[in-house]
Amino acid sequence: MSSAQMHPNRRGSAIPASATLTISARARRMTDDGLDVINLGVGQPDFPTAPHIVEAAKRALDGGAHGYTPTAGTLALREAVAAELSASAGSDYDPSTVFVANGAKQCLHNLMQVLVDPGDEVILPAPYWVSYVPMVNLAGGEVKVVPTHIADGFKLTPEKLRETLTPRSRVLVLNSPSNPTGAAYTKDDLRALEDVVLAHPRLAVLSDEIYRKLTYDGFEHVSFARLSPEAASRTLVVDGLSKAYAMTGWRIGYAAGPPEVIAAAIRYQDHTTSCASAASQAAAIAALTGPQDPVATMRAAFTRRRAAMLERFDAIEGVAVHPPQGAFYAFCDLRGLGPLGEDDGAFCERLLEEALVAAVPGFAFGAPGHMRISFACSMSRLLTAMDRLASFIAAAT
Ligand SMILES: Cc1ncc(COP(=O)(O)O)c(C=O)c1O
Repeated sequence: MSSAQMHPNRRGSAIPASATLTISARARRMTDDGLDVINLGVGQPDFPTAPHIVEAAKRALDGGAHGYTPTAGTLALREAVAAELSASAGSDYDPSTVFVANGAKQCLHNLMQVLVDPGDEVILPAPYWVSYVPMVNLAGGEVKVVPTHIADGFKLTPEKLRETLTPRSRVLVLNSPSNPTGAAYTKDDLRALEDVVLAHPRLAVLSDEIYRKLTYDGFEHVSFARLSPEAASRTLVVDGLSKAYAMTGWRIGYAAGPPEVIAAAIRYQDHTTSCASAASQAAAIAALTGPQDPVATMRAAFTRRRAAMLERFDAIEGVAVHPPQGAFYAFCDLRGLGPLGEDDGAFCERLLEEALVAAVPGFAFGAPGHMRISFACSMSRLLTAMDRLASFIAAAT
């Protein structure tokens, strides 16, 4: 078939490639070509899923879990999610306020589809995770980016939020801890935003908490939903098993919030993908209700790597790094490097070609002049990558 005859429509043509997936694919091709590339572009833990979780999936398959489940997920999994969220988010969730999907990504997409009308504004603090913008565009919404800076700890302030809101504002996306910055909102930070949110009756908070169990230096994650019953009634909490339980390939995410919105998201899913995999759902129950020490072990490893990485950054002049309170990324401001750091795309291109280190340029997160590196790789590879980064900068400046 001649490809000249068939084109995607305008919507299809406008969907950008994911910068993070593109970098990882390129790093993988270079590795396949025999190059010793260290991939710090990755967004997944370098740990296997814990054996008791894998066993639960095997048992489910041996026991005949081969068919569809309810679209929203099995009752057992929704009960496990509701119980866990009620304990940690501090609000009362029951299974009817929860749905399960193929990853937090699908939850976020479904929710954008059922919350945002064409022309509605979605408030997005930058730096932001790469997929929010296409999700908003696919829902016909308009993205209103609010830049945040290293000096504010990359957090949205109530003043900035107040200035940004208009009668068309429909959704505020809060991602704490954040991908890409690792910034996390304290209870006081959230309380300061709460008054502004509650003063806008149309505004929903889409609270992406997928890194909430991976925090450092004793940082205690708080959900916006936990602030008050009013805040809970405006909040859609999104989380998933991918990061905290090293289960990216199992594709299980969940969301909880006001029942009418959740019911609409389930109807949307009824007609798009139906349920998540039955065996993965069984594994997710084991993850949420079983021993939590694999999460603690992984967090401890990330804590050590984070400390070592920050120490190395101290010795690199011209690169400012925000110490992440959560997630497994460091977001670096390259602009202190002069001309070398101004074009983050070119910087990352050269870093990959000349130093064999893959990192994601800040423009992908709405923050040109920056770069994201992931510390989801072994300590020895991370330290080698930091040596390569330091030598590359020393030679190039
Ligand atoms: C901030 C954020 N939200 C959501 C997701 C989606 O995760 P998943 O679909 O694997 O649950 C990711 C994955 O990188 C993420 O970083």
